[in-house]
Amino acid sequence: MTTRTRILTGITTTGTPHLGNYAGAIRPAIVASRDSNADSFYFLADYHALIKCDDPLRIQRSRQEIAATWLAGGLDVERVTFYRQSDIPEIPELTWLLTCVAAKGLLNRAHAYKASVDKNVEAGEDPDAGITMGLYSYPVLMAADILMFNAHKVPVGRDQIQHVEMARDIGQRFNHLFGQGKEFFTMPEALIEESVATLPGLDGRKMSKSYDNTIPLFTSAKDMKDAISRIVTDSKAPGEAKDPDNSHLFTLYQAFSTPAQAAEFRSELLQGLGWGEAKNRLFQLLDAELGEARERYHQLIARPSDLEDILRAGAVKARAVATPFLNELREAVGLRSFAAQVQVAATTKKKAAKAARFISFREDDGSFRFRLLSADGEQLLLSRNFADGKAAGAVTKQLQSGQELDLRTEGNAFGIWLDGACVADSPDFADASARDAAVDALRIALTPAQD
Ligand code: TRP
Repeated sequence: MTTRTRILTGITTTGTPHLGNYAGAIRPAIVASRDSNADSFYFLADYHALIKCDDPLRIQRSRQEIAATWLAGGLDVERVTFYRQSDIPEIPELTWLLTCVAAKGLLNRAHAYKASVDKNVEAGEDPDAGITMGLYSYPVLMAADILMFNAHKVPVGRDQIQHVEMARDIGQRFNHLFGQGKEFFTMPEALIEESVATLPGLDGRKMSKSYDNTIPLFTSAKDMKDAISRIVTDSKAPGEAKDPDNSHLFTLYQAFSTPAQAAEFRSELLQGLGWGEAKNRLFQLLDAELGEARERYHQLIARPSDLEDILRAGAVKARAVATPFLNELREAVGLRSFAAQVQVAATTKKKAAKAARFISFREDDGSFRFRLLSADGEQLLLSRNFADGKAAGAVTKQLQSGQELDLRTEGNAFGIWLDGACVADSPDFADASARDAAVDALRIALTPAQD
């Protein structure tokens, strides 16, 4: 059996995806999910969004827009597990289990928290002014997202590497404390896609909402065209040669074109294509590449209840993994059903019964005998001699049949009788209590397993 690589990533639902998000994260994630070796878990990190945003309408709109964007972009929900973090109650529950083992000192070192503290100190404020427990615990919630599904690879931006490392740290600590040699959690690795270019925005700096230099993705063709018209270029007139390598307009073009298209565009720029026409070409290209997806996006946005159904189905898939796993973790930390204690005893018994074993052997005189060893390898019985293997086998069978044992103690030993004859003897134990313990072990060993 080959195990597929589990790839998991979350998208914080505070904004509307723009062209930079699409080229830098969404498109590569959708492509990666098509690899037959990939088992992708992609989710809307809407609990994380609450940490950064207290505007309910914005949260709600962003969740829908992001969900529709990924689906319109071609994410195949049959193939991947696509869900909302807030639809998985196991995640906040796991967050608490992890919070109880996460070192406060570790979280003190989180970049985002430290940056807020530094800012406060600089401003002469209380170090923790305006800092919520949500911000402080952000990495624990993220660790739960990742560890809940035992992700191998976590594609993230550079700013999130530390969080993935913290997930490892916290997961390891939990494994160590409660695993009893078992590794509950897989150690995740951050996956930084070096090859994926961060797109430049209108002004040439990285495209980012915080710079207000983005090109909208699916809102409308007109919005896209308007934004493209605002791309900053040099002031070379039509007919003058343009330098494609110093033009972020060209970089944007290249991110969506085939190499052949890019080569042609390059030579046209070198030959003096005007910037107005160049912007037109970029728009034509983006519209051809994204027009159909834009259509799908608007269809999805127009049917929020369909979107709801898709995400709920995703949550069912995710919970099929999360629910049994969380039950195991609850067991591990001691949050166990009282009623289940009886069952635990029964399983132990069953295991002992399974593990106890008869070993038959032949004496020099040709007779057949057997020993019964307990689960721990202690000798419980040594049989008398039988003329043939068949007779010895018949006795071991009868002993395991579940019938009432005719057990007769003699000093610190005991014998087992069948049909009026002693068929096997225990060793001579050190004292009566050792003998009685062996009798108990024998009864467990001979209890037929109940499945
Ligand atoms: N913190 C991530 C970001 O801002 C989003 C996120 C939440 C995430 N949970 C995650 C990413 C788990 C990867 C894995 O980008």
